[in-house]
Amino acid sequence: TTYRQAFRPQYHFSPRANWINDPNGLVYFDGEYHLFYQYNPYGSRWGHMTWGHAISRDLVHWKELPPAIPEEGSTMIFSGSCVVDKNNTSGFGQNGVIPMVAVYTAHQTNRQSQHIAYSLDRGRTWTKYIANPVIDLNKKDFRDPKVFWHEPTQRWVMVVLLPAEKKALFYQSPNLKQWTKSGEFTAADSPATIWECPDLVEVPVDGTLERKWLLMLSMGGGAPAGGSGMQYYLGRFDGKSFVSELKPGDVRYVDWGKDYYAAITFNNLPVRGNRGAISIGWMNNWQYANDLPTAPFRGAMTLPRELRLVKLQNSGTPARYELRQRPIQELKPLLGAPFRWTGTDVAQLNEQLHTAGSSLPTDTYLLTLELEPKQISPGVRVQLRKNSQDETEATAIGYDPVRQQLFLDRSRSGQTGFSKDFPGRFTAPLKPQNGRVTLQVWVDRSSVEIFANDGQVTMTNQIFPGPSATGITFFGDGLRSVIIQPIEGIWR
Ligand code: FRU
Repeated sequence: TTYRQAFRPQYHFSPRANWINDPNGLVYFDGEYHLFYQYNPYGSRWGHMTWGHAISRDLVHWKELPPAIPEEGSTMIFSGSCVVDKNNTSGFGQNGVIPMVAVYTAHQTNRQSQHIAYSLDRGRTWTKYIANPVIDLNKKDFRDPKVFWHEPTQRWVMVVLLPAEKKALFYQSPNLKQWTKSGEFTAADSPATIWECPDLVEVPVDGTLERKWLLMLSMGGGAPAGGSGMQYYLGRFDGKSFVSELKPGDVRYVDWGKDYYAAITFNNLPVRGNRGAISIGWMNNWQYANDLPTAPFRGAMTLPRELRLVKLQNSGTPARYELRQRPIQELKPLLGAPFRWTGTDVAQLNEQLHTAGSSLPTDTYLLTLELEPKQISPGVRVQLRKNSQDETEATAIGYDPVRQQLFLDRSRSGQTGFSKDFPGRFTAPLKPQNGRVTLQVWVDRSSVEIFANDGQVTMTNQIFPGPSATGITFFGDGLRSVIIQPIEGIWR
């Protein structure tokens, strides 16, 4: 019964009980993917921040373990990262056992500083370093270290933030204990109110041998859908400092929905071909995170995404690099037998869906749409999680060909009244490619994640529909094909 509540995500991670926010310390080690996270062991609102812990062998099925690093007195354990110290540079390893080292922000009333802890039993138990803090600038706000091994300089690198100044600081270390500042990054064009939870990772460019550095930043406010969100920069990193190659004013968003925050990437992933980085985010927004109508848990993670770049070349202009985000391949085995339709007449499609009836999935499915938008048409609109009894409740998604926008409207998606900032219609700019728009829509019991045009644009939103909101209806024109596949739950 633990994972059976009405709003319980069936194929996303959520804690058995209590509050979670940011994913922390994503790392692969010895056959296990580790997901640590900001966790309150004592309640379902933010507080007593502790590193919660879950592990997976496939990045899809998760097992929640006891909390890893508890708050200590009034010092809370804020966000951070985790590395596998293969060469035992830290000296924490004993008898040939490779240490995992966590780097996190210790939060006190008037001070945030960077601390480390290590584990010699694959992340199950942790020992705090006796000489903490490892970096202390005597500041109230100084947090969210992302640490990784930089092969070319043979150094550990840390990116950490001064949130209100919107400044990323870079440090280097040979041993995770002594850190030397090596650079800074700021961006005058950032629409964010503050920056939190940075991530810096080198990613491959599709169809080339090139790689570029991706700097992702969480925006404490000022995101396109309102409140929390994420932006990114692309550029060079020499082990000391990041230089953006985007033109000033070229602001890039990671996601256009309301519920995508604090995403970071895995360290130490097994080498597999030219695979991109893999990220997980917190599917939430600080505007209402403490008020979500779920129990006994509050908060969930997004699907893991593979991050890559594409290089778009128009003759005569310099190449443009863009982020592409695709749900990881490992999710494929969850997909069941498809309902397929091709045609142009939505009335005929609705008829066929009606006939298919109870053989269609109700609240956990992948919807794949292909559209051929015409400039003058009204475009395609889909009502999903629609209340089949009175039809007053539905989440609308679709494409507006005149404005060239993807949209999701959750104004009447079910429970919306717990916060004035929850209901709304959110849009993202999206142009047809070769005359087509494709939408991959991952529907779960309390969320909708849209991947448009093969990951060019993503939009992540929570919804809280009633138990009879299981219908789906199509409107408008320009639709060419539809596939609906049930998604198997991950909780056994
Ligand atoms: C982001 C954040 C981080 C901080 C953590 C505290 O959501 O505010 O900046 O480390 O949450 O829980």
